Amino acid sequence: MPVLYNFDEIIDRRHTGSFKWHYSDDTIPLWVADMDFKTAQPILAVIEQVAQHGILGYTVPTEPLYQAIIDWHGSRYDLWLDQQNILFSPGVVPSLVLMMKVFTEAGDAVLINDPIYTPFMTKVLDNDRKFVTSALKEAEGKYILDLADIEAKIIEHKVKLYLFCNPHNPGGRVWTTDELEALFLICKKHDVAIVSDEIHQDLTLSGYTFTPFLTLATGYEHKVVSLTSMTKTFNIAGIKGSMIFAKDSALLSKINQQQRLSDEHELNLFAYTAMRSAYEQGDEWLEQVLTYIEANIEVTLQFLEEHLPKIKVMRPEASYLIWLDCSAYAQDDQTLYDKLRAAKVELSAGIKYGNEGRLKMRLNVACPKALLLEGLSRMHKALNSEVLNSNVI
Ligand SMILES: Cc1ncc(COP(=O)(O)O)c(C=O)c1O
Repeated sequence: MPVLYNFDEIIDRRHTGSFKWHYSDDTIPLWVADMDFKTAQPILAVIEQVAQHGILGYTVPTEPLYQAIIDWHGSRYDLWLDQQNILFSPGVVPSLVLMMKVFTEAGDAVLINDPIYTPFMTKVLDNDRKFVTSALKEAEGKYILDLADIEAKIIEHKVKLYLFCNPHNPGGRVWTTDELEALFLICKKHDVAIVSDEIHQDLTLSGYTFTPFLTLATGYEHKVVSLTSMTKTFNIAGIKGSMIFAKDSALLSKINQQQRLSDEHELNLFAYTAMRSAYEQGDEWLEQVLTYIEANIEVTLQFLEEHLPKIKVMRPEASYLIWLDCSAYAQDDQTLYDKLRAAKVELSAGIKYGNEGRLKMRLNVACPKALLLEGLSRMHKALNSEVLNSNVI
């Protein structure tokens, strides 16, 4: 029997320890990348089943789990993996750190784009590497890679590793095969390892095609890794769990050895269980949630065009995050953020994603439409008023 999900339902997440809602009192949180929707019914059912079984002991990944991962990635993205190509990790961010340890030494330069998901910067610095940025360029309302700059930075800073994000957060780009191939050739020419964070892959919106970097890595498999997870796709980030894909056996054993130094190669029982269920039975939910998200994106774009026409909007090609250039409405980042907070709506401050995020905001539209509309109307009020507060970003 098909399940028809009701994403209009407003579920109270306050007082549940939710990162997004915990600090929000009567503010509408449209910031951190999780959705205000219940996850897929089969995932909830299997978690209940495990709890009912009652023994929550040490757990290993099973054959059907591997098969579910293989089938999902093969059938959707033509990424055909063997069981040996798959490692597990508690999260994509922990894996980014792990990859720095695999491919670089302290003091080495790691290339990232600007803007970029904040931990790409903070984790590089926290782990005694230095990051070198290549700013994304804007063309026809979307970000493109500056290939000449990327190559120049690689040479100048003797870059060893490129931490790449596809689909891109916060810009929402799903990089095309041509773009990825061009990037790949530059990295290969200069012997730079590529670690591609692909956590937003399954949220690719209609009209776009996601290409896993690993499908392009022929002849260079020892330097390419894809990182992904079911947690973003199915809104189960609190469960923690992710995958590392690589095709070269020496690289895989190096990654595995590095993981074992801190015993981080295993997931918990609920993560393995949810992962298998998501990849075996999650499509129906995913299809419906993407339809809902696409409708929310349209509603948002229309609202902004009508009420805040001076915001320059980057239409996402994947995911539910919309990158907004609000420079017409404020002169500094703190003022921009404060204006919105004063009107009781919270977005992610663009400046947290790098210098290119100056006077930009990242808006999360993965919530019931009624909540989104209230949030948008508060944004409207905030940016059209001169009322200021002085909270800290
Ligand atoms: C690009 C990107 N990578 C990684 C993460 C977080 O991954 P994890 O929770 O598996 O560490 C996020 C979360 O928003 C993200 O947007």
